[in-house]
Order: sequence, then C-alpha cells, then structure tokens
Amino acid sequence: MKDKVVVITGASKGIGAELARQLAERGAKLVLAARNAGELETVAEYCKKRGAQVITVRADVGVERDCAAIMSGAALAFGGIDVLVNNAGATMWARFEDIQDLSILERIMRVNYMGAVYCTAQALPYLRQSGGVLVGVSSLAGRTGVPTRTGYSASKHAMTGFFDSLRIELEGSGVAVTMIYPGFVSTGIRENATGPDGKPIAVSPVQEGQVMGVEECARRIVQAIERREREVVMTARGKIGLWLKLLAPSLVDRIAKRAIEKGR
Ligand SMILES: NC(=O)c1ccc[n+]([C@@H]2O[C@H](COP(=O)([O-])OP(=O)(O)OC[C@H]3O[C@@H](n4cnc5c(N)ncnc54)[C@H](OP(=O)(O)O)[C@@H]3O)[C@@H](O)[C@H]2O)c1
Repeated sequence: MKDKVVVITGASKGIGAELARQLAERGAKLVLAARNAGELETVAEYCKKRGAQVITVRADVGVERDCAAIMSGAALAFGGIDVLVNNAGATMWARFEDIQDLSILERIMRVNYMGAVYCTAQALPYLRQSGGVLVGVSSLAGRTGVPTRTGYSASKHAMTGFFDSLRIELEGSGVAVTMIYPGFVSTGIRENATGPDGKPIAVSPVQEGQVMGVEECARRIVQAIERREREVVMTARGKIGLWLKLLAPSLVDRIAKRAIEKGR
C-alpha cells in the first residue's frame, strides 16, 4: 500500500477510522471523508503522526456534489486515486411494522447505496487510470434477510447487485471490485442505529465484547485490497450460511433471527 492513494468514506469512526490507522502504518496517502469534521481531524492527526500524508473532506455521501468534492480533493492533493473504500454507512434496529416514518428507509438507502454509487461514479475515471481497486463494504445482511433490518438489508443487497454488475462491466479495464461482508463488528454503529421512532436507539442490543473486533475487520479489508480479492465473507457463520441458503434457506432465516435475539 506504500504511496497508494486511498479514499475512505466514513473514516471518522469505526471500521473506516481503523482502516485509515492501519493504512497509515503501511505508508498509504489517505483521503478521509465523513460528516463530523472534528472526529475526522482526530483520525487524521493519528495517521500523520505515523508519517502518512492525509487530507480530510467533510462530506455527506448522500449528496452527489459532496462525493464529487471528495474525489476532486484527492486528485488535487495526490494526483489520482488507487483505492476507493465505500465504507460510510448507517443502520436501523426496528421491525418494519413499528416504523413510524418510512423516510428512515429512504435515508438509509441514500447513504448506504446512493452514497456508494455517487462516489464510485466520481472515482472511476481515476481508478481506470491507476488500475485500482474499488471496495464496497456491505454486510452479511447484504446476502440474506435479517429481522429489524429491512431497510438496511435492502440497501446492502442493492450494493451487492450494483458492484457485482459493475465488476462484469469493468472486466479488462484493470479495475478490481472487492466486496466486503462483515458480520457483527464491535463499533458504535448500533448506538447510532435508527429506532422505530426515528431516533438513535442509544444502547447497543449486541454483546459487543463477543463479536469481531474492529482491528481484525480492518486487517482483513487491507489484505483483501492488497490481494485484489473478489469478496470477503468475514465469519464462519457467514460462510456456512451462504452454502446453507442454497440447501435450506429457512434454516438460515432461523439463524439470522437467533443472532438478533441473542445479540451476537
Ligand atoms: N459494525 C458492524 O457490525 C457492521 C457489520 C456489517 C457491515 N458494517 C458496515 O461497515 C461500515 C462501517 O460501519 P461501522 O460499524 O464502522 O459504523 P460507525 O462506527 O457508525 O461508522 C460509520 C461511519 O460512516 C459515516 N457516515 C454515516 N453517514 C454518513 C454520511 N451520510 N456521509 C458520510 N459519512 C457518513 C460516519 O461518519 P459521520 O457520522 O462523521 O458522517 C462514520 O465515519 C458501514 O457501511 C456498515 O454498514 C458494519
């Protein structure tokens, strides 16, 4: 990753911030984007102390012109883009029939799906030039349904369909498309998950100490970028689940239901 220009959306916290820290250690040039400028600066300062060149761009990926500003910022600062990690994401924790305002689903779709679409469209000319890597951070919920996650799962399935289709279109272009499917990862995403009333649920229903650590998740993403892997399904349960889904899909439904009930 030495001297590679890596754009990470959602780099102010969680997986994106840890990815930035690990890539800084490897000598990447970083373009960090998110809405919270203060948190972005804290991550950038850490990376700079490790010798990395970093710029931050305050951006809402649900707004197309913000995504354009991220990529033009990258080109201006570093002359191009080698890797785009579409990581910015928002989630929910509510049964569909309990949701009071359906705009929650629209917002999640705009951030998780359209955010990735806007950023990819703006970055592709640079990725074609560099023969770079396009990364989509989806979720196991992008491969199978999960209760309390209707809108989130839909947005992650949309990412899967988009990037799997684009991969075929990009065959021969030199651009690799890498999809990441994490299971539960211990970050603050659950505290900020939108509840049925449209407000953050504030307390994570997941046993955060029992699930994958953010360092391991980021390490696996770095490895996938370096190897230009097609996709990474992060947990054993996820890998087995994908096979089981072909043979006994209702069993996978029960596994998903149990995971939500148990919080791990
Ligand atoms: N944690 C898990 O269990 C898990 C599992 C599977 C998949 N994932 C996926 O992994 C990715 C990262 O999740 P995480 O767990 O690291 O979550 P997180 O800790 O909540 O971080 C989410 C990041 O996305 C950014 N973001 C949210 N809305 C944004 C917007 N409109 N524009 C720009 N940035 C935005 C946030 O920054 P600002 O608030 O500063 O904008 C933050 O940097 C997400 O796509 C998520 O769906 C997570």
